[in-house]
Amino acid sequence: MLRAASLAVTLSLAAAPALAQDGGQLFNNQCKICHSGGFMGPNLTGVAGGKVAAGSFNYSPALKAKGGEWTDENLDAFLKGPAAFAPGTKMMMAVPGDENRAAIIAYLKTLK
Ligand code: HEC
Repeated sequence: MLRAASLAVTLSLAAAPALAQDGGQLFNNQCKICHSGGFMGPNLTGVAGGKVAAGSFNYSPALKAKGGEWTDENLDAFLKGPAAFAPGTKMMMAVPGDENRAAIIAYLKTLK
């Protein structure tokens, strides 16, 4: 019994990379540490579709000066290369992989 169970776990782990990316899981792994309502980063509830740098956070002048809204395109560009999108931003975390960014953006839209 025990052996069968651990085999099943091994198989599901091995299969994981082939599955579609889970935005919630990516967010928990890569973003939550700074974006869980603490002081490290702004809360991201309602960020998708909202104004850039509109939360209650001590944003960098770079992001505040950027203006505009967090459209899918802007979120994708920011996550692809934060420093390229807003030179001087305090956020350093880039997300490689188009599918990873798409999955994370889809997840951000569920944060309401
Ligand atoms: C090491 C901490 C850290 C990590 C990890 C991090 N961020 Fe950030 N994030 C920040 C900070 C700090 C800012 C504010 C940037 C500024 O003011 O220039 C920010 C800003 C943002 C904004 C703009 C918020 C607004 O109110 O306009 C979005 C969207 C965002 N991050 C998404 C993400 C996503 C998605 C991830 C995971 C892939 C992530 N961040 C990972 C620190 C982090």
